[in-house]
Amino acid sequence: MCGIIGIVTGKSVAAGLISSLKLLEYRGYDSAGIATLQNGNIWRERAAGKLENLEQKIKEVGVVDGGIGIGHTRWATHGAPTEVNAHPHIVDNVVLVHNGIIENYQELREELLASNAKIMSDTDTEIIGHLISRQLKINDDIEIAIKTVVAKLRGAFALAIMIKGQEDLLIGARQGCPLAVGIGDVEGHYIGSDALALSPFSRQIIYLEEGDLVFASTNSYKIFDKSHNEVTRQVNHIEVQNAAMDKGNHKHFMAKEFFEQPDVINHTLAHYIDLESNKITIDAKLDITKFDRIIIVSCGTAYYAAMVGKYWLENSTNMAVEVDVASEFRYRNPPLNDKCLFIVVSQSGETADSLAALRLAKQKGCTTAAVVNVATSTMAREADIILPTFAGTEICVASTKGFICQISVLATLSIGLGLQTGQLNQDDAIKMTQELAQLPRLINQCFEVESDVIELANDIAKVEHVLFLGRHTSYPIAMEGALKLKEITYIHAEGYAAGELKHGPIALIDEKMPLIIIAPDNAVYEKTRSNIEEIAARGGDITVFTSESRAKEIQKLGLKAIALPDCSEFVSAFVYTIPVQLLAYHTAVHMGTDVDQPRNLAKSVTVE
Ligand code: G6P
Repeated sequence: MCGIIGIVTGKSVAAGLISSLKLLEYRGYDSAGIATLQNGNIWRERAAGKLENLEQKIKEVGVVDGGIGIGHTRWATHGAPTEVNAHPHIVDNVVLVHNGIIENYQELREELLASNAKIMSDTDTEIIGHLISRQLKINDDIEIAIKTVVAKLRGAFALAIMIKGQEDLLIGARQGCPLAVGIGDVEGHYIGSDALALSPFSRQIIYLEEGDLVFASTNSYKIFDKSHNEVTRQVNHIEVQNAAMDKGNHKHFMAKEFFEQPDVINHTLAHYIDLESNKITIDAKLDITKFDRIIIVSCGTAYYAAMVGKYWLENSTNMAVEVDVASEFRYRNPPLNDKCLFIVVSQSGETADSLAALRLAKQKGCTTAAVVNVATSTMAREADIILPTFAGTEICVASTKGFICQISVLATLSIGLGLQTGQLNQDDAIKMTQELAQLPRLINQCFEVESDVIELANDIAKVEHVLFLGRHTSYPIAMEGALKLKEITYIHAEGYAAGELKHGPIALIDEKMPLIIIAPDNAVYEKTRSNIEEIAARGGDITVFTSESRAKEIQKLGLKAIALPDCSEFVSAFVYTIPVQLLAYHTAVHMGTDVDQPRNLAKSVTVE
């Protein structure tokens, strides 16, 4: 949710700002901008839309480079995605970029308007610039001005700030949104939203803590904590792979990431399971006998992963498993105590609502675990237990390999915890781990349905609404299929529990309503088949994703069926994820939408 970068090296910074913004574009692409300071002047260029628009503009007008600069890629919160609202904002001598939301912005804005401030944009960011500028007029001590203004701001934010005439001073502030400081491999200091943004320049990274301020120059930096005491923060050595930024032979990152799934499942499983001995290793702190409840909280795609996990964990532990979306969980005053095992699931490890839910659970005494892909993220640092996924960097906003790795971890966890409770015996566990071990091969086989799915996608591209249905773990997969389709094609889609259809949504069915039904050959197959017949009787346009062995039977009913490899009930959630991802991808390709950067979305949502 907005990416920020700041560089102070005393040498040309503009090219570095742009290369870092390229790495940050996954956080938002409504507008982009950079600014530098040189010889007592400020130079700034901004453009609405993607970073390429800014690059084009800079090519036309030229750069005024400097030894210090800041840059921003925006996901709009306050104010439309126009150039006027694009960052950096300049107010008198203050130049700043911002990620997050200032909640008391209206009240601060009114105060400023009452004292005749000239406010040019609709952003909350500009308000911060005015407050700093006003404070500097009262007292020109920059540190005091920043500390005073930050103390007035409510909400979640990360800031990078420069002051005209101060060409060796880069300021950063973190409160609720991630911000890291990089110590240059060669020279200088850097401030960025994440380690990826700093990766072209720095392997030595400091993750600022809540309330921290940093004042950096080319040769030094100092950090103050929320009580304004100077503090030393740990320097981490980080290796970030830039290879992830390359699409390889694929047209889109989504396709590249999609086809990486057999590999990343393998990497993730290998962390938890010794496939020779079928032994599962889980963190010693995960002693299920200490808990009487498991709560899993997450957002978006990760929420559907959590729902899949609920089916597995309840079955293998016989323990109550609650699943909730983080934005609801955090405000519904849930009863929590030290008997709860709280699990947050997040690709980025930074999603604001999920992070807040994790903190709430910690504060109420739960043992907390984070199923997280970014090992350096805030959630990974704050949870008691890290359950890493090994998806590698995921660039496409719509998650594919991130999701499959999340369910890989939840699957291994359900075996490990099931053994601890005695609900599973060794034989059950061996059978399940062996089924998981087959996944890379099975997923590769699933790719063979691509041409059938392309045919279906060409039809789906012409419709306005789609219903996805499934039972058991295919129900969250149906919802994930609908989300994926909505995200990248803008076609309205909903995922329903197949058995719930008759309680309302069946009214939608006519010959124009396409239905995608996920029906693996499992214990609820017959039930789903009854639902299929109910829909067929009402003329719905049905396509069934089912097993090879059942596909013929569906076709005999005169319905379309796409056959997936036969698999066990346990691993069917993995297998049936593939066709729904493929369907969304090929529909988007057919429609010509922006697959990797769909409108209005961002990969990492650090505002609530
Ligand atoms: C955003 C992304 C989704 C993602 C969700 C949760 O909304 O667009 O694709 O599933 O955030 O992200 P997380 O990083 O917590 O898994």
